[in-house]
Amino acid sequence: MHYLATISLLWVHLLALASAKLPSVPHASCTVTASGGDDSPRLLAAVRACSETIIPHGTTLNIATRLDMTGLSDKHLKLEGTLSFQPNIPYWTANGFPFTFQTQITFWILGGRNIRLDGGGTLDGQGQAWYNAFASNSSLLRPIILTVTEAEGVTVENIQMKNSPEWHNFVNQSKDVVYNNITIHAVSTNNNFAANTDGWNTYRSDTITIKNSVIVNGDDCVAFKPNSTNILVENLDCTGSHGISVGSLGQFPGVFDIVRNVTARNIHMSQAQNGARIKAFAGPNVGSGIVQNITFQNFVESQVGNPVIVDQCYMTNATACAQFPSNTVIEDIIFDNISGTSTGPVVADIGCSPDGRCSSITVTDLNLSAPSGAAQFTCQNVVLSGDSASLFPTCSTT
Ligand SMILES: *[C@@H]1O[C@H](CO)[C@@H](O)[C@H](O)[C@H]1NC(C)=O
Ligand SMILES: *[C@@H]1O[C@H](CO)[C@@H](O)[C@H](O)[C@H]1NC(C)=O
Ligand SMILES: *[C@@H]1O[C@H](CO)[C@@H](O)[C@H](O)[C@H]1NC(C)=O
Ligand SMILES: *[C@@H]1O[C@H](CO)[C@@H](O)[C@H](O)[C@H]1NC(C)=O
Ligand SMILES: *[C@@H]1O[C@H](CO)[C@@H](O)[C@H](O)[C@H]1NC(C)=O
Ligand SMILES: *[C@@H]1O[C@H](CO)[C@@H](O)[C@H](O)[C@H]1NC(C)=O
Ligand SMILES: *[C@@H]1O[C@H](CO)[C@@H](O)[C@H](O)[C@H]1NC(C)=O
Ligand SMILES: *[C@@H]1O[C@H](CO)[C@@H](O)[C@H](O)[C@H]1NC(C)=O
Ligand SMILES: *[C@@H]1O[C@H](CO)[C@@H](O)[C@H](O)[C@H]1NC(C)=O
Repeated sequence: MHYLATISLLWVHLLALASAKLPSVPHASCTVTASGGDDSPRLLAAVRACSETIIPHGTTLNIATRLDMTGLSDKHLKLEGTLSFQPNIPYWTANGFPFTFQTQITFWILGGRNIRLDGGGTLDGQGQAWYNAFASNSSLLRPIILTVTEAEGVTVENIQMKNSPEWHNFVNQSKDVVYNNITIHAVSTNNNFAANTDGWNTYRSDTITIKNSVIVNGDDCVAFKPNSTNILVENLDCTGSHGISVGSLGQFPGVFDIVRNVTARNIHMSQAQNGARIKAFAGPNVGSGIVQNITFQNFVESQVGNPVIVDQCYMTNATACAQFPSNTVIEDIIFDNISGTSTGPVVADIGCSPDGRCSSITVTDLNLSAPSGAAQFTCQNVVLSGDSASLFPTCSTT
């Protein structure tokens, strides 16, 4: 191990005051600097051995091999410098940690208990090489930068993320995770789009907060995938994204998907495909689930394709949706205080499957306008309540 270890004398001193029986604190704080080669093994060794690992300001570590930081406890990773994920496409497609849910891989898995990642530094996904390669291979496996997995009590704060090859953050099978003050920027420098560069996705996770962050990317700003519960998303500024999305849910036969207790509030959404969105599959051979108690509140949107959208016939044509309504019910949904402009004539579209698969959907304080002409509010197979319900014509039924 070549990392520099410096024991924090002050901390040892405080421990000595607090306890006569001093526990041994080997490598309380370690600093990892660049080696010129692959820095992953030294970073991993430091994180395993030390309670605090510092990557100093001005240091760029080359991450050329995958980072397994699972099963940690009481760790502080202070990233003041940069982790640069080397774009060795054959290496990563063969060795990235696989994730079967949507056929994905990840550079880095971080898990365990009581973990902090902060320091003002940068995670650089070196995405351009991947955007270029994906343009000629649409089945290319591309890595997520950071996957928090099987974790409880994680804080990620004051970190900049740029150009992930795919999603920036994935929260898998975790509880009590907070992201605060994160900057995400994924923009291609040529015509090869920075596809699927979601800000966050949550899956089989509970009690997650994502707040005070600025995102410029090419897919969902935040998406809640199956079994996401008790989630707060607030004070985000999202540009170029596909919105704040519940779903898509109910895709896989025999699988039951739950998204419950989600609040997304104080969101700025610009030049995006969607604003506040819920999508669930219908049709033959799909799964089932429930979307319940979701609040979208205080959104300001500018040039957004679908500022408010519920699609309970996702990827299903009208005939098939009428014959095979969605098995994913949607209930207790609030869209409150959503203002701004769309890019097309329809500013809000609440499209439900037939047979009462949506209930208790409330729309209040919608102030949405189209770029020209009258704004259209459309809906299907649902009875809306709230003071903006009158903006919608009687919802058509099939
Ligand atoms: C997600 O969590 C499951 C455990 O529920 C684990 O088997 C899987 O490897 C995790 N995936 C990733 C990419 O961390
Ligand atoms: C496209 O990517 C897939 C998955 O990463 C890989 O198996 C396949 O060999 C690639 N195809 C080409 C033509 O490179
Ligand atoms: C947010 O994080 C950046 C570093 O990414 C830092 O410079 C800034 O001071 C942080 N803001 C707050 C309010 O802590
Ligand atoms: C979601 O949770 C429910 C209830 O615990 C479970 O039956 C279902 O299999 C889970 N679905 C997924 C996709 O994990
Ligand atoms: C939703 O929130 C309510 C009220 O806090 C709580 O009782 C319920 O357990 C939560 N549901 C889930 C699935 O966590
Ligand atoms: C709905 O979810 C919110 C969190 O988003 C929670 O505070 C509230 O208690 C939940 N309400 C019910 C009735 O479960
Ligand atoms: C509506 O949302 C805007 C933007 O977030 C906020 O400034 C305003 O205070 C909200 N209005 C109410 C009544 O909460
Ligand atoms: C609708 O979808 C069904 C099955 O998914 C397909 O068989 C049918 O041809 C489609 N109808 C139209 C009009 O596209
Ligand atoms: C609706 O939004 C427009 C600007 O988009 C603003 O001028 C107007 O005051 C808003 N109306 C209400 C009732 O908030």
